[in-house]
Amino acid sequence: MNTARKPFRPHASLLRVAAVVASLLSPCIASADPSPVTSIFKPLSAPAEMVYETSLLALLVCAGIFLVVGGLLAYAVIKFRAKPGDDQREPPQIYGSNQLELAWTVIPILIVFVLTLVTARTIADVQNAKLPDGALQVRVVGHQWWWEIIYPEHGVVTANELHIPVSSREQRRPTALKLESADVAHSFWVPQLAGKTDLIPNHANKMWVEPYATGTYLGNCAEFCGNQHAQMRIRVVVESPEDFAKWIADQKRPVVMDPVVRAGHDLFMRTACVNCHRVAGTVAVGVFGPDLTRLMTRATIAAGAAPNKTEHLRAWVRDPQTIKPGCLMPNMQLTAVEVDQIVSYLQTLK
Ligand code: CUA
Repeated sequence: MNTARKPFRPHASLLRVAAVVASLLSPCIASADPSPVTSIFKPLSAPAEMVYETSLLALLVCAGIFLVVGGLLAYAVIKFRAKPGDDQREPPQIYGSNQLELAWTVIPILIVFVLTLVTARTIADVQNAKLPDGALQVRVVGHQWWWEIIYPEHGVVTANELHIPVSSREQRRPTALKLESADVAHSFWVPQLAGKTDLIPNHANKMWVEPYATGTYLGNCAEFCGNQHAQMRIRVVVESPEDFAKWIADQKRPVVMDPVVRAGHDLFMRTACVNCHRVAGTVAVGVFGPDLTRLMTRATIAAGAAPNKTEHLRAWVRDPQTIKPGCLMPNMQLTAVEVDQIVSYLQTLK
């Protein structure tokens, strides 16, 4: 048993090499990537950076193996081509070489061993990261096909757009996410923030994000969960601490009823809308569909299926199936007048 005082830690130095190569390669990789806002090669948050460095090391190792194997193959193909006048009979067949077989068994085992250690270290670093006290806590519940977002400390509920504060290396403000599912398995993946984590029925998973730049980060459900899986998008709005506090305060503001939209409100409260949707301070307390209390503060509807504009809202209320076929909200068979009333009411929810 080797009892050397220094434990074997390839992690730090290897990752440093990978980081240097990354800084050289990343302009090429980033410019070749058509969708930088969802690129794993442009991490903007701690867990995504850690995963990125490990992935670069794996890519470099694979590139090296490809060059060696491809180079030897090309060399053999060119050097030993049949030439005119060659003897066309099969050459003598030689079997077995202990040295070669040992080499191509031991070298891959060593490579896999190193990659396993580095990967295990990265997974442990991400999973065991100690978040500072007072980190923002958010519950994310996956539904077919939308995201319910709950801020238990603030009593705020929203959907599909997660607002969080920006962090910095000096003043850390990470966000802890508790992931749950109301129906089937989903997966939360915003590539620039962190690796993906599944949302499993009857089992809460945890993850954390710590973005270093303000802006809107895009992601999508990454586990096939039914026919509108592709339209289960997530937007993460990263704001300055002041803007985030303002957003929270805004979400908690009491709802003021505008008399002009009273008809739409009354209709909404009379129909089955209230069985599935919640509007704080009203009889609408449903939990099957997204909370609509601050619907108009969100940029999209139907988990990113359409922009939150009057025409799309009207099309959605008239028949959601035209925008998101198979979604669980039925056509409510409303008349054109009723659709207008409901939409006018919904547009006051801000
Ligand atoms: Cu939810 Cu795929």
